[in-house]
Amino acid sequence: MATALFPQHVIARKRDGAELDRGEIEAFVKGATDGSWADYQLSALLMAIFLRGMTPRETAILTEAMMRSGTIADLSAIRAPKADKHSTGGVGDKVSLHLAPMVAACGVAVPMISGRGLGHTGGTVDKLESIPGFRVGLSISEYRAQLEKIGVALISQTAEIVPADRKLYALRDVTATVESIPLICASILSKKLAEGIDVLVLDVKFGRGAFMKEKARARELAVALTSVAKAMGKPTRAVMTAMDEPLGHSVGNALEVAESIECLKGSGPQDLMDVTFALGEQMLVLAGTAKDAVAGRVQLERSVSSGAALAKFREMVAAQGGDPRVADDPSRLPASPIRAQVPSPSSGWVQDVDALGVALAALRLGAGRARAEDGIDPAVGISGLVKVGERVLNGQPLCVVHANDQGRLAEAHAILDRTIVVGPGAVPRAALVGEIIG
Ligand code: URA
Repeated sequence: MATALFPQHVIARKRDGAELDRGEIEAFVKGATDGSWADYQLSALLMAIFLRGMTPRETAILTEAMMRSGTIADLSAIRAPKADKHSTGGVGDKVSLHLAPMVAACGVAVPMISGRGLGHTGGTVDKLESIPGFRVGLSISEYRAQLEKIGVALISQTAEIVPADRKLYALRDVTATVESIPLICASILSKKLAEGIDVLVLDVKFGRGAFMKEKARARELAVALTSVAKAMGKPTRAVMTAMDEPLGHSVGNALEVAESIECLKGSGPQDLMDVTFALGEQMLVLAGTAKDAVAGRVQLERSVSSGAALAKFREMVAAQGGDPRVADDPSRLPASPIRAQVPSPSSGWVQDVDALGVALAALRLGAGRARAEDGIDPAVGISGLVKVGERVLNGQPLCVVHANDQGRLAEAHAILDRTIVVGPGAVPRAALVGEIIG
């Protein structure tokens, strides 16, 4: 049906609730990649998809067409199984920084292409860039060579990978069409599957600090992601995790790298390690190097206690031009000139630490970006954050603010005063790791 390939006909069919065929979806993706569809036509179809949805078949075709819009890394020369982890994003989520070397130290290659932070969630590549000299912008051939040599590479999205997503995501952002499960699925999976992986583990977060706030909606996303990835021949599992308070005790780029190094040395915070192990276990099980989660856990714990994971992190930092001495001496990371404690107003128990409030304070300090073109300050942020359920005494620090100027410090301090709630009465700690899907 050649006429259906006119953009207006494809838009009309989706507007009226039809299931689009492969040719129509491929024409849309080609139109986004080569500019043959105008922005208003792409946007109209995005809105029609947002309102009408897509069948699993359409979503799989869209994912595949987007993946094929650019380079697909060929990692077939690497004999080790190749596993990646993707998180839908949260506050203080530095898991990738230590999980990737832990898994690589267990003999599974980890090819990881990550994004920069935007809005309230931080980005892995921004965190890595706080390591002096660290290069996130490797070419695909450098990425492949590093994976062959040391089994792990953490790099930024390149222009060659899924160009269609760059165009479509920018349009979704300004046309109120981001929150569409088929569009999110195709956007995430097209980029992950173009990395050259064999298996994928997803950390699908729900809660106040998550992209999907409602658990039921996050679950719907997890089911869609795992079924589309499997339909494309990639064994994939999703771990549902709560994101109501920040992960770990630190938020801010260099501060999070320092906390990840603590994890690699065996002294990471409990909540952060719970999520790390849950994801790592599934990576090893899907990659076929652990028979079950318990066996995976043993391997991961051994990678830390033997020092192999920390050694792999050093190797990765050096391979990407960074200063590997940060692994032994985190004081080599950028540091802020101003540090101030936020004291507890009373004795009691920590009732609440709202992840969004902490993210807003970090954003005010300059740790994140409100718009894609904004710069960030690698040194600023919040450390020593208390956790919900912790007993605190009057005047005890609830966290430490790292700032570069007094004005921003005062703003962040005021936000944190509202965000961290102390009150009488013990508060039970809820489990962070929930259902595993797929
Ligand atoms: N992250 C992505 O990469 N794409 C989306 O659509 C949403 C989150």
